[in-house]
Amino acid sequence: MNMRNALQAMKPYTPGVLAPGKLKLSSNENPLGPSPKAMEAFQTSINNLHLYPDIAALQLRQALAAKHSMQPENFVVGNGSDEVLVILAATFLNPGDHVLVGKHTFSEYRFASTLMAAEVEAVAMNEGRFDCQTLQQAVREHTRAIFLCSPNNPTGTIIPAAELRSLLRKIPAEILIVLDAAYSEYIDDPSEAGYPFEKELLAKHANLIILHTFSKLYGLAGLRIGYSMASSTVSGMMERARQPFNVSLPAQAAAIAALSDEEFVQQSLRVNRAGKEQLYTFFRECGFAYIESQSNFICVHVHQDAQQLFLRIMEHGVTIRPLGSFGLPECIRVTIGTTAQNLQFMQAFRAACGL
Ligand SMILES: Cc1ncc(COP(=O)(O)O)c(C=O)c1O
Repeated sequence: MNMRNALQAMKPYTPGVLAPGKLKLSSNENPLGPSPKAMEAFQTSINNLHLYPDIAALQLRQALAAKHSMQPENFVVGNGSDEVLVILAATFLNPGDHVLVGKHTFSEYRFASTLMAAEVEAVAMNEGRFDCQTLQQAVREHTRAIFLCSPNNPTGTIIPAAELRSLLRKIPAEILIVLDAAYSEYIDDPSEAGYPFEKELLAKHANLIILHTFSKLYGLAGLRIGYSMASSTVSGMMERARQPFNVSLPAQAAAIAALSDEEFVQQSLRVNRAGKEQLYTFFRECGFAYIESQSNFICVHVHQDAQQLFLRIMEHGVTIRPLGSFGLPECIRVTIGTTAQNLQFMQAFRAACGL
C-alpha cells in the first residue's frame, strides 16, 4: 500500500508532554479545571449516551449566536477547533494551492493544508509578531489562504486591530483569511479584543473565518469542542465537509453550560492576570527575557537548548513546552497556572537552571 504523496511530507504533531504525577504547564489548559456548570451538564447528559447528539448542534449554535450577536447559520462546530481547521481546509483548498502561515505559530494550519496537498509557505515574523506587510508581499497568484493566530501560540502576541483591518482591506477577496482566536478572551487590552469587533470584521469581509475553542478559557480541552464564525454562505459550504454527529452529546451539553458560567470565566481571567504578573516578576528577577503575553502562557528566551532544559524541569516535577518544533530552539512556553502552581514551576525552573 502506498499512502498519498501529500502525507509523505507530514510530521506527527508534537503535543505538550503528559507525564503522570507531574504538574502540566505544557498545553495552555485552564488551571482551575472545567467550569462547574459544564461539569453538571456533562453529568446530566450521561443519561442520554445511547442517543446520537443533535446533528446540527442547534442549541449550542443558538447559544453561540446569542453570545456573539449573530445567527446560528454563522457557526460551524467541530471536535476541537483542530477539526474545524481540517473542515475548512477540506472545503476550500485544492491540491497545489499556495497557503501562508507564520514561521513561529501553531502547527495545525500546516497539517490541515498539507493534508489537502496544498503548498505551505512559512512567512518570517517580527519578534514573535505577525508582520502584515511581509504577509501581504508573500501573496502570489495561486495563494488561496492565509492563517493568522492572534494571540499567537506560542509567542502570545496579537495582531493589533488596525493592522488586521488594513490587511483585510488589502488582501484580494478570493483569498481566505483564517483568524485563529483560540486565546482571544485573554487579551488584556479591551480595545484590541471583543466580539463586536469580530462581528464587524465578518460583516465586511466574506473571505474571513474566525476560530474559537472551548479548550482554554472554558476548561473543556478533554471534551474536544471548538467552532468557527463566518458568513452564512461560507459556513454553509463548510457544513458540506463536516461529518454528521462530529461533536458528542456531552460536549454539546457542557459547552452550552460553560457559555453561561460567567463567574467561572471571570475567575479564570483574574487568576490568569495575577499569574502572569507573578511569572513576569520571576523571569525579570532571574534575568530571562520574555515576550509580553496577551494570553494564558508566556514565551521565554532561555539562552540554552530548550529541549534539554525542558527535560531538567520535568525531572523537578513540572512539564512545560520547549519550542524547537515552533522554530524557536532556545525558547520555552509555560502555561500560566494558579499562584501555587506557578510557585512550583519557579522552584523547578530555578533548580533546572542551577539558580
Ligand atoms: C492557537 C490554537 N488554535 C487551536 C488549538 C486547538 O484547539 P482545540 O483544542 O479546540 O482543538 C490550540 C491548542 O493548543 C491552539 O493553541
